[in-house]
Amino acid sequence: MRLTRTSDLWWKNAVVYCLDVETFRDGDGDGCGDFRGLTQKIDHLERLGVTCIWLMPFYPSPDRDDGYDITDFYGVDPRLGTLGDFVEFVRTARDRGMRVIADLVVNHTSDRHPWFRDARASRDSRYRDWYVWADEPPADGPKGVVFPDKEDSLWQYDEHTGQYYLHRFYKHQPDLNVANPEVRDEIARIMGFWMELGLSGFRVDAVPFMLETSGQTDASRLPDPHDYLADLRSFLSRRNGEAILLGEVNLPYADTMPFYGGADGEELTMCFDFVGMQKMYLALARRDARPLAEALTARPTPPKDGHWATFVRNHDELTLDQLSDAERQEVFEAFGPEPGMRLYGRGLRRRLPPTLGGDLERLKMVYSLLFSLPGTPVLFYGEEIGMGEDPEAEGRQAVRTPMQWRPGRGAGFSEAEPSRFPARVVQGRYGPDHVSVAAQRRDPGSLLSWIRMLIERYRENPELAWGDFTVLDTGSESVLAHRCTYEGGTVVALHNFSADAVEVGLVLDGFDSSWSLTDLLGEGTTEIAPDGRAVIGLDGHGCRWLRPRPTGA
Ligand code: GLC
Repeated sequence: MRLTRTSDLWWKNAVVYCLDVETFRDGDGDGCGDFRGLTQKIDHLERLGVTCIWLMPFYPSPDRDDGYDITDFYGVDPRLGTLGDFVEFVRTARDRGMRVIADLVVNHTSDRHPWFRDARASRDSRYRDWYVWADEPPADGPKGVVFPDKEDSLWQYDEHTGQYYLHRFYKHQPDLNVANPEVRDEIARIMGFWMELGLSGFRVDAVPFMLETSGQTDASRLPDPHDYLADLRSFLSRRNGEAILLGEVNLPYADTMPFYGGADGEELTMCFDFVGMQKMYLALARRDARPLAEALTARPTPPKDGHWATFVRNHDELTLDQLSDAERQEVFEAFGPEPGMRLYGRGLRRRLPPTLGGDLERLKMVYSLLFSLPGTPVLFYGEEIGMGEDPEAEGRQAVRTPMQWRPGRGAGFSEAEPSRFPARVVQGRYGPDHVSVAAQRRDPGSLLSWIRMLIERYRENPELAWGDFTVLDTGSESVLAHRCTYEGGTVVALHNFSADAVEVGLVLDGFDSSWSLTDLLGEGTTEIAPDGRAVIGLDGHGCRWLRPRPTGA
């Protein structure tokens, strides 16, 4: 049954790749990325080993929050193509063995959505109750405001109808009222629509906010938010047994776990590991593996078929909000020394390579961590080639620049005049003349080749994705060692957070001198002593993945 199980629960060893159609590849020469361009570039994703593409919002939008402000949940923004182009893309992806998921952004709509336009036209509108209104906003001021540079309240006064509406994010994004059964039905309809067109699930935007019912007046009508999430999941599974919900829940572990549901895992299939990600940056800043080791040891195991989704960088600011103030300050000092590199007082608006001063060995170590730690790795486009950011771009846009396919002004993103691009191509040291797919494809020493190899090894060694996981004692503060065991097989991985070479001793329970360790990322064999001890050397920022094999076998 093992084979069937591993393919049925495909998300457990998936490689997810997040991209924005708008900035990936322009197929019609108008300067804006589109589905046709993306379809042309699908071979790159296949070669890389991606198994699931996560599309950032591509729905019609005034684009005041990079498409997270939607005016029609059932369409494709005309700048990006048509529904026909979308279907051709999904079909091509599936042909290459890749599933497609997309952002489901139903905490709010754009204020230009016809539902909201109607809702604010009169208190008697049929859509009035699709949003959350109050005569007086609760007196909690800016508490809970997500974008403190732009907003100072969660409530906005609507002159015409004389009430305030709730907006968890920007004021141009009024929150939908999930307490309203009509809204809940509509959300299911949206999911059903896209699944019918081939999607294998959704990345669910801002889950805790979407389920939040505080601030709503008639508490008796409110469903239990977790019952509602479980309802959505069972609807999804009825329509498509392999479909997943990957949720954005940026909370401490204990508060995240309920979003998986109970022992049967009947809510989200996967949650992003925001805590582990932030502790990894702290470990990098300190050159000390312990903060990450502690987080991984404390991290609960998701119920049933659930899984963590792990990542190094996403499309937003690199949030550090789960660290203590002092820890965050340490990361800021190490990786965001200039105020312009920081955002909202809680995060960084940089990509990883500039943050690490372009140190290729250190970067390679970080991606080796991503693919060897338990959880489903999620890449943000451009990470595979080590793209940098545009510090001149506004806020979070800094990391949302055009994909760099080849050297030259347009980066191979588009043949149009760059002034027509949705964002400026990165300039300077991380620009396309220095960082591009074309330059790295055939270079065995490139980051792209490294990540391709990591993905291959991660897919070949099921222990990493499926196994039981333990952190091993190395006696060294700078080295993280972990062991994954699955159906009799074992893989051990070591990562050195320091720039100095080190030698560590490990005890591998269950093994003796009739076994030796084979390197999975390179050549080499290490002996195991009769008592299970092995001495392993690592370069500065080195990493090794090792499999015990019977000696002489
Ligand atoms: C999520 C998205 C972010 C967006 C926000 C509002 O946090 O990741 O990009 O701005 O939701 O939709």
